[in-house]
Amino acid sequence: MKTIIEPFKIKSVEPIRFTTREEREKILKDAGYNPFMIRADDVLIDLLTDSGTSAMSAKQWAGIMDGDESYAGSKSFFRFESAVKKITGHKFIIPTHQGRAAEKILFSIVGGKGKYIPNNTHFDTTRANIEFTGAEAVDLLNEVGKHPEIKADFKGNMDIEALNAFIKKVGKENVPLVMMTITNNSGGGQPVSMQNIRETKEVCKKYNIPLFLDACRFAENAYFIKLREKGYEDKSILEIAQEIFSYSDGATMSAKKDALVNIGGFLSMNNEYIAMQCRNLLIVTEGFPTYGGLAGRDLEAVAQGLEEVLDEHYLRYRIKSTAYLGNKMTEAGIPIIEPPGGHAIYIDAKRFLPHVPPYEYPGQSIVCEIYLDGGVRAVEIGSVMFGKYDKETGKLISPAMELVRLAIPRRVYTQSHIDYVAEVLIEAYKHRDKLKGYEITYEAPMLRHFTAKFRPLS
Ligand code: F0G
Repeated sequence: MKTIIEPFKIKSVEPIRFTTREEREKILKDAGYNPFMIRADDVLIDLLTDSGTSAMSAKQWAGIMDGDESYAGSKSFFRFESAVKKITGHKFIIPTHQGRAAEKILFSIVGGKGKYIPNNTHFDTTRANIEFTGAEAVDLLNEVGKHPEIKADFKGNMDIEALNAFIKKVGKENVPLVMMTITNNSGGGQPVSMQNIRETKEVCKKYNIPLFLDACRFAENAYFIKLREKGYEDKSILEIAQEIFSYSDGATMSAKKDALVNIGGFLSMNNEYIAMQCRNLLIVTEGFPTYGGLAGRDLEAVAQGLEEVLDEHYLRYRIKSTAYLGNKMTEAGIPIIEPPGGHAIYIDAKRFLPHVPPYEYPGQSIVCEIYLDGGVRAVEIGSVMFGKYDKETGKLISPAMELVRLAIPRRVYTQSHIDYVAEVLIEAYKHRDKLKGYEITYEAPMLRHFTAKFRPLS
């Protein structure tokens, strides 16, 4: 088999800035050892997120020039609407400025005290938007998805029995909808199988509850189904995506991922009454229903991106290049969530640094080390991000996993960039016994990971 190459030529380039180790030591110290506080210009390879960081194609940039900026009834809206309808089959398409705006609107209408929203695993903004209304966000991930070291094809699957039992327990009238996140970002970018989506739909049908997809990475999920699920080998990505959405009654989407754009999103559904309520709220918070917080040119770029993301050459390169980084790391013995996910590699920081306990933030230690050594920016997903304090004892309650996410922007970095990232990580792993923990010296009362300041422990 020949090398899988980037399925594009580069027409426009953006320089990246090299810094010395001494400079990075000062930059990191000034940032309170929190990479969120580093200026992007001081980062060499930025793997903080795959969201809104995609490189757009020449055709998307052409769409930007072609955007119709009419307030109402813009032609760009109709192109956007038809691109979304072609994939989702949903009747009502509501543009929003990004994914969480769609979540905010949807849960303002269907959420509220006493309501429960199950999901395989809620992304943080989804959980926050649900809980903001007083409703409860519940994760019902399949058992295999909870074990980083187990290799399985569909570790994003919903636990069907748990879903059934949960709805029975709380009462179907208290579950306004069931959600499913494809791929499961918080669980390692792991895909959900078509069979699992179908079975989830059957449970929903039994109780007459709508199924909504959190569809940010639907195309990556569809490609995993093509690779791994029997009966889908010869289907096109569009056909697989259409089947996925055929089991759903609605979706929230951050176009900043699989629509290959820097801003955008949508809310889609088949229920006319809820769509009408959502549109009314949209007018208050986002804008008129034919632009929803976006410029006409953004709608053009999303429409074009939704076409491009279905290209199998693109998806093969995308999924293989993420796995390429993951495989280099596992070959060197670095513990990661296996198998590699679609958009990111997740390092298991507990196994990487067994001598650094969760309360000394092993993930933060790795994140700081790879910035210092190579100018690579990643994000901690562990006790810094999700740690809570016990109300009585004041002790830190850590989440189940201590992870570091290396998210790969779409169409941005070449194979040599990724080789470099692997070298930096392997180097850090080689002298892992020298890495020390950190303590927090400042933290905000909510979402502390964004602004917290740290001090390295000696
Ligand atoms: N759902 C999932 C699964 C996501 O990964 C994200 C964003 C959202 C919803 C919210 O979308 O950012 O457009 O408002 N994830 C980004 C990340 C931020 O880095 O994983 P948004």
